[in-house]
Formats: sequence, structure tokens, C-alpha cells
Amino acid sequence: MPTTLLRVFARLAVCAAVVGAAAAVPSVVAAQELHDAYHSAPLDTLPADAYQGWKQFELNCSRCHGEYAVGSSFAPALIVSLRDGGTIPTKEAFIATVCAGRPAKGMPSWCALGLEMEKINNIYAYVKGRADGKIHAGRPAAKPEG
Ligand code: HEC
Repeated sequence: MPTTLLRVFARLAVCAAVVGAAAAVPSVVAAQELHDAYHSAPLDTLPADAYQGWKQFELNCSRCHGEYAVGSSFAPALIVSLRDGGTIPTKEAFIATVCAGRPAKGMPSWCALGLEMEKINNIYAYVKGRADGKIHAGRPAAKPEG
């Protein structure tokens, strides 16, 4: 076989390998990013209280305080408020603020709205974990019982 023809074959083989590798990448990425058709893969595995707190936070608080408590244009980032030296330094201050709210400033009174104390405690476990850097932004998983 003439050498030029060999070179062409060699190039074709390299191209095929590159195309094959490129085609394989998106499916691997998709498998990592999506846990199922609707949810990204979980990042942290949380005990039951913080996991339930994450759910309650997303349900009741995230529309103002941002997903994963990072804040929005309307309400403060609770990961900053609950940090050491932040505006909400203790669990008691958190519970009192959430229960009473600040209705004049747009923060609802959650006790008046009927949010149970157990749920407020769970939300604290989640948001405090976020503020302390122990829980990352992103969808968590629940630690199996037992
Ligand atoms: C309708 C929007 C809205 C919702 C929903 C909401 N908040 Fe707020 N929240 C606010 C606003 C606005 C403030 C800031 C009030 C101010 O200016 O003092 C605030 C303040 C706070 C503060 C005090 C922060 C600080 O640094 O002083 C905490 C704690 C808090 N919210 C927790 C929660 C929790 C927990 C939930 C869910 C159960 C929740 N909020 C739901 C609007 C909201």
C-alpha cells in the first residue's frame, strides 16, 4: 500500500476515535446531572431533620429567600444571616423571627400561618448547615433510617 494511503487511513482512525469520544461525553454528563427525568443528582446526604427542613424551606421560603437560602432581590440570604456574627446569631433568634415574621417588611408570620414548630426546627437544621458550609447548594438526599 502506498504510504500516502496509509496516512489517510491513520487520519481517519484518529478522526473516528475523536468523534466517538465526543459522542460518549454528553451521555456521561447527562447521567451525572440528572438523577431522574425531573431531578438533578443529590449532592449531600442529610439526616432526617435537615432533609425535611430542606423540603420545607423550598416549599415555604425559597420563593423569597432564594433556592438553597442564597437570597434574592427581595429577601436576605439566610446563609449570611445565620453565619457566625450574622444578624440571626442563635436558634432562638431564628425561631422568634420566623414565628413572628416582620409583616411590615414583607416577611410573613409563620406561626400565624400555621407552620408547625417541628417544621421550623427542621428548617433551622437545614439553613444552619448551609450557613456553616456543611451543606452545599443543590438537591440533597436523605440518609437511610437505622
Ligand atoms: C413573601 C416573602 C418571604 C417569604 C415567603 C419568607 N420570607 Fe423571610 N424574610 C422576607 C423579607 C423581605 C425579610 C427581610 C425583612 C427585613 O427587611 O427586615 C425576611 C427576613 C427573614 C429572616 C431574618 C433575616 C435577617 O438577617 O434579619 C429570617 C430568619 C427569615 N426571613 C426566615 C424565613 C423562613 C425560614 C421562611 C420560610 C418558612 C421565610 N423567611 C419566608 C421575606 C420572606
